Amino acid sequence: MTDGTAVTIVLGTRPEIIKLAPVIDACEERDIAYSVVHTGQHYSEELDTVFFDQLELPAPDHNLGVGSGSQSEQTGTMIPAIEAVLLDERPELVLVQGDTNSVLAGAIAASKLDCAVGHVEAGLRSFDRSMPEEVNRVLADHAADYRFAPTDQAAGYLREEGVPDESVHVTGNTIVDAVTGYRDLAAEKSDVLDELGLEPGEFCLLTAHRAENVDDRERFESLLDGVARFARESGLDVVYPVHPRADDRLAAFGIGMPDEITPIDSQDFLDFLRLESTAKVVCTDSGGVQEETCILGTPCVTLRDNTERPETVAVGANRIVGVDPESIVAGAREALDDPNDWANPFGDGRSAERILDIARLGSATSVGEVSG
Ligand code: UD1
Ligand code: UDP
Repeated sequence: MTDGTAVTIVLGTRPEIIKLAPVIDACEERDIAYSVVHTGQHYSEELDTVFFDQLELPAPDHNLGVGSGSQSEQTGTMIPAIEAVLLDERPELVLVQGDTNSVLAGAIAASKLDCAVGHVEAGLRSFDRSMPEEVNRVLADHAADYRFAPTDQAAGYLREEGVPDESVHVTGNTIVDAVTGYRDLAAEKSDVLDELGLEPGEFCLLTAHRAENVDDRERFESLLDGVARFARESGLDVVYPVHPRADDRLAAFGIGMPDEITPIDSQDFLDFLRLESTAKVVCTDSGGVQEETCILGTPCVTLRDNTERPETVAVGANRIVGVDPESIVAGAREALDDPNDWANPFGDGRSAERILDIARLGSATSVGEVSG
């Protein structure tokens, strides 16, 4: 679609596809003229097309094929390629979501053309500028015109940074829309538990892919050691869908997987949701997984030194343990003992509608803002 595009949605990685799927669906429902630009940051089937197929999303209108590279190379290559599409489409609004290099590139390209930019999942802060994601989210927030914060806390961080109050909107997180939309389907359709020989409530799900963990040999080994020790103590099976970055680092460092941890391929969304919903506990360094476990009522142990999702900790769904083996075992033990009766802090599952309403795209459904 190159004529009269109202909104251009820029995405590039697995979590962006999943979290923007509800926005794309809402554009379809409202008959809004939209286009999707895929930067090509993720390109392997298991991180990319599997989600377009399963979430029944139309193929992207543009795939920029940027692929992997250093932080600056990847981001820098994306910017002029996105600019070329925007010059052609001249949309009213460009939407980006999250904190990846694709988000930063989309926000920069759009703001330099004086296109309105909407940042979905604005205002998250880990306050750790050594993480590429923190730099990306801060810069994207400050390039944006619409800042769609998932919670009051995120909106508060934005206001403290001095952005105009009227640009901050609390919408909830679109991941709630995605999880509520697909959770039942996952329970009905996924046979991942049978395929992996797992019993509900009798296994631990592990994900670890963040650069600060897997690109550092000592941290990666320490993390695996901690989870393996917890597996021995608890008697739980551990399954680990391995992200390509982690796979690459395991091979490059020559790290052997502990016997207690079963590596499996990256999962599609329904199978992964099923695993998250039925795990006894989830150990992760993923941002999206911290949110999803909180929404699904599964206790989470975060293998990082900080989180930009403090709401999950505040409600008692998550604990931040780093990668020290003893802290991992202690945190996971606590996760098994604590009650699982928290309330989801990320909204009511109508975030995508709210975002379109606020941007005045299509006929409003008058869901109103969460608050803020
Ligand atoms: C990116 C995001 C991270 C997010 C993650 C979601 C940044 C800075 N990081 O990290 O915040 O949590 O996506 O999964 O944007 N690779 C493949 N196939 C692919 C893509 C990557 O094999 O389709 C491998 C390559 O070896 C590549 C490595 O994974 O070098 C890292 O990919 P990259 O896009 O740089 O970052 P992610 O680790 O995926
Ligand atoms: N996910 C998935 N299959 C997997 C692992 C994760 O579908 O094997 C989904 C998960 O449900 C969540 C998203 O990927 O919606 C999280 O992405 P990721 O952990 O790659 O990135 P982050 O959220 O840390 O940026």
